[in-house]
Amino acid sequence: MRKNVAVYPGSFDPITNGHVNIIERALEFFDKLIVAVAYNPNKSALFSVGERTEMIQTALKNDPRITTVSFEGLLVDFVEKQGANVIIRGLRAVSDFEYEFQMTLMNRKLNRKVDTIFLMTGYKWFYTRSKIIKAAASLGGSVRGLVPEAVHQRLKIKIPNYRNVP
Ligand code: PNS
Repeated sequence: MRKNVAVYPGSFDPITNGHVNIIERALEFFDKLIVAVAYNPNKSALFSVGERTEMIQTALKNDPRITTVSFEGLLVDFVEKQGANVIIRGLRAVSDFEYEFQMTLMNRKLNRKVDTIFLMTGYKWFYTRSKIIKAAASLGGSVRGLVPEAVHQRLKIKIPNYRNVP
């Protein structure tokens, strides 16, 4: 197992500045980070996996330490195939805790070799989540400053109500 590689999984629909903060901080501890974009055919997404991947790469300025790939199926299988054994997750408000705890315990049950490391989200991004970003943007509310500029521009193309937001 290469100890210097970690996997940061998520839906990233779309990537927010909270995600970017976690990625930058994870790179203080790991030489390489694989940002894993989950493809879930049962969950409707605003952006396609291709669009989400592209926005991540643009937001991270094609940093050579970061690889962005999509995956389908069990996360622990993907992590093992990548030759990694660490999953990174960001923790925001207390409401995240139960879900993250369940997911971590399930992943541990599925594969004892893989473990999860949590980073507390930067306080500025405590309530920044993709779902609420999309909800505000769909009603024409500006989310500039909460998402990377590339995402702000993409939202204009995707959401008619967002087209004229400066
Ligand atoms: O950004 P999200 O939506 O909170 O990310 C959730 C994600 C993609 C990490 C989670 O749904 C996941 O790991 N999906 C892969 C399926 C899986 O492995 N399920 C078993 C563990 S609960």
